[in-house]
Amino acid sequence: MTNQAQAIRASEFGALLIDGKMIAADVIQEVAAGAAELIKAGTRPGLAVVLVGENPASQVYVRSKGKSAEACGFHSVQHTMPTTITEDALVALIEQLNADPAIHGILVQLPLPDHINATRVLETIVPQKDVDGFHPINAGLLAIGDAARALVPCTPAGSMILLERAAKVLGLKLAGMNAVVVGRSNIVGKPMAQLLLAQSCTVTIAHSRTRDLAEVVGRADIVVAAVGRPEMVLGEWIKPGALVIDVGINRVSAPGLDVKGQPKTRLVGDVAFESAVRRAAAITPVPGGVGPMTIAMLMSNTLRAARRSVGL
Ligand code: GUN
Repeated sequence: MTNQAQAIRASEFGALLIDGKMIAADVIQEVAAGAAELIKAGTRPGLAVVLVGENPASQVYVRSKGKSAEACGFHSVQHTMPTTITEDALVALIEQLNADPAIHGILVQLPLPDHINATRVLETIVPQKDVDGFHPINAGLLAIGDAARALVPCTPAGSMILLERAAKVLGLKLAGMNAVVVGRSNIVGKPMAQLLLAQSCTVTIAHSRTRDLAEVVGRADIVVAAVGRPEMVLGEWIKPGALVIDVGINRVSAPGLDVKGQPKTRLVGDVAFESAVRRAAAITPVPGGVGPMTIAMLMSNTLRAARRSVGL
């Protein structure tokens, strides 16, 4: 286990920088140890990742999911299907994986091509193997406060671990805090709100139609930004001493050309980091904050699904 002070570094402004890379490495180490134990008992956790088409970002994500699965000692398979695959053929592949006893987790990388109904595909995955936590049964379990039985979506689950670590280092209790989640997606915003509610936070979900977002964010002890819009949450909005979790990963143009003569780009979050770090008590950087936790939690969900499959 990484020491807390190392995993959460103080910035020159006094805010704690929450090092998701280091905390994710801890999670992966714990999952690998858990997997080794399960393997000794006769079950190797198995993860199947399904990629449709050639979206370059999806290819990168899928490759790193496979690598992490191998680092954890899992049985790892990737099914790469052409963009032209029919919805029925994709559903048939998932049904085959549902029935495969060597596979405990199934992940269909999103987005899917327009001719495929993603809802039908995701709902074909049996809830016990739904390591993305997108199936209505898992969403429903989380909504009724039964996160222990649900498989929880990876990005909010990872964000929650970062938040809990930061609160612990700062000697704060999450219960009773005002939490504002900016973004209402089924993948991040809504499940994040459920997890915060389960920790007894007073939760507000803000979105594109929210009036006076600056004022709403300004009341928050916890801000979770998950809108996918570069630096839209301004540092001036942040209440001094707030905990800030930035889920956004946005590629924007940067000055100059790269080694290939192409215009340079850089990654930024949904929060204007340079100004927010001066006000927050703790903040996640982009990159290196929430991003690495998403894959770590996918591994954790796969181990959980495998353990449950043998009644543990
Ligand atoms: N595409 C972008 N994020 C995700 C995710 O969390 N899960 C899946 N399956 N696809 C994604």
